[in-house]
Amino acid sequence: MSTTGNSEELDGCELGTMSYWNDTYTAEIANFNETGDVGEIWFGEDSMIRVIQWVCRNESIVANDPIIDIGCGNGMTLLELAREGFRNLTGIDYSKPAIDLAMSVTNDEFPDITYEVLDIVVDKVTKYVEMFKIVHDKGTYDAISLNPEDSKAKRLSYIDKIGQILRSDGLFVITSCNWTESELCEHFKTTFVLKELIPTPQFKFGGGVGNVVTSVVFQKIPT
Ligand SMILES: C[S@@+](CC[C@H](N)C(=O)[O-])C[C@H]1O[C@@H](n2cnc3c(N)ncnc32)[C@H](O)[C@@H]1O
Repeated sequence: MSTTGNSEELDGCELGTMSYWNDTYTAEIANFNETGDVGEIWFGEDSMIRVIQWVCRNESIVANDPIIDIGCGNGMTLLELAREGFRNLTGIDYSKPAIDLAMSVTNDEFPDITYEVLDIVVDKVTKYVEMFKIVHDKGTYDAISLNPEDSKAKRLSYIDKIGQILRSDGLFVITSCNWTESELCEHFKTTFVLKELIPTPQFKFGGGVGNVVTSVVFQKIPT
């Protein structure tokens, strides 16, 4: 983790800005229309498949359970969940080009996936309160943590919103490449407790062992 000098926050960069994502997805839409390439699968296809397999193995999750993907990007996680039989899927992203791309990628096969342009940090989530059995995030909390302006306040708003939209019996599944398991547990501890770690590849260096990506499942602390 690279941090700023005076805090536990990450150094801000363009990956934390909406203009970066709008430009990225605008280019990816043009490419998709031309070649059919869906664009970048963040942290690689394996990271996505590990989470999908975890969801499929989990007997407490059934086909009609509401699942939301926060910062759904090109919609590939939702597409794979739909292909596995999940039928109550929602994708939100603050980038309109991302939502346009996700709709282009998934609509032919699965026109019933619901999409909304929504900024999870800023916008109200009133209509989603206590709605979701599964809240999924791959790379979005990371992007928010990289916002060059007051990322801590934005992270805290994100954590509050996730707490609002997750059902009391729900599970929050997050994949990060910027934060470790213990950092995620520390960040989310006011609202969530660790339920499970989804194993990810480890590397060894100088006697230490680390993960390139971390996938963690949280449940809500009962109120
Ligand atoms: C690293 S990409 C990951 C995209 C997708 N989850 C995936 O795994 O391919 C981060 C995504 O988060 C979205 N994002 C960043 N900040 C957001 C916010 N405040 N609200 C909603 N989406 C956001 C970006 O537009 C981008 O699609």
